[in-house]
Amino acid sequence: MPTLLFIAALMAASYFIISEAADSKGSFQDNFDIMWSQEHFSTSPDGQIWYLSLDKETGCGFQTKQRYRFGWFSMKLKLVGGDSAGVVTAYYMCTENGAGPTRDELDIEFLGNRTGQPYLIQTNVYKNGTGGREMRHMLWFDPTEDFHSYSVLWNNHQIVFFVDSTPVRVFKNNGEANNFFPNEKPMYLFSSIWNADDWATRGGLEKTDWKKAPFVSSYKDFSVDGCQWEDPYPACVSTTTRNWWDQYSAWHLSDSQKMDYAWVQRNLVIYDYCKDYERFPTLPVECSLSPWD
Ligand SMILES: *[C@@H]1O[C@H](CO)[C@@H](O)[C@H](O)[C@H]1NC(C)=O
Ligand SMILES: *[C@@H]1O[C@H](CO)[C@@H](O)[C@H](O)[C@H]1NC(C)=O
Repeated sequence: MPTLLFIAALMAASYFIISEAADSKGSFQDNFDIMWSQEHFSTSPDGQIWYLSLDKETGCGFQTKQRYRFGWFSMKLKLVGGDSAGVVTAYYMCTENGAGPTRDELDIEFLGNRTGQPYLIQTNVYKNGTGGREMRHMLWFDPTEDFHSYSVLWNNHQIVFFVDSTPVRVFKNNGEANNFFPNEKPMYLFSSIWNADDWATRGGLEKTDWKKAPFVSSYKDFSVDGCQWEDPYPACVSTTTRNWWDQYSAWHLSDSQKMDYAWVQRNLVIYDYCKDYERFPTLPVECSLSPWD
């Protein structure tokens, strides 16, 4: 797909030329702490690939040491293969380590499935403790076979979720104070694997088959090109001159990204809260903002 290659090249170029902000690639220990269950974490002999495992006892999770406000956040993941029904691998950004009542959060959750049945990805956006902004997508490849990159572009104008170089979800700001667009607080990046067979696969009908445990998800190539938060506030103000992810061209999709996004919208969307009139007889305000602007 030439357009995708072109975007990838553009991103790579801007990534290397403009890297005056935090730009971390490196070992697990440089960037992350284990949140729970050290014994369910391991790495490849060279330290470049990281594994989280889930068994009947518990799962495992890690988080960045640093917080960031705005930027480009990316990692390659390879998901639990075979029979992974009930297993959820979460990859998310959040203002805190916990589910506090005023947190902001950007989520990508990979919902496992029975052997040969498709994984779904669920994305969500929380502001000040309120989420409920789910979308669900199919993928156009088997995410258990190879590593693919999953990335978030976050600035004060939009949040875009990418799978490889394809934008799958665009969440816009409206340029006013509002209660839907997280833009004030810095976030950590997290990943974890856990059992969610009460809801994840076919709405909870398919249960985790513990005979298949341990379930393992793999990670590599973490990269951040964003503003690393430093106290005292205010750090990480939005500027339009310094960083590519804050500049005008990152405020909306490029023409070729729009084509890819349109293709995703036509073919891969399973659920969009902005179309769920049963749940929201009056749609939330952010649903009126156009992803094409
Ligand atoms: C955030 O939520 C808390 C608790 O739910 C509420 O008291 C507070 O007013 C909210 N803040 C904003 C800025 O909306
Ligand atoms: C799992 O596979 C079933 C059957 O193909 C499908 O309906 C469902 O959407 C898939 N994903 C999840 C997370 O349930």
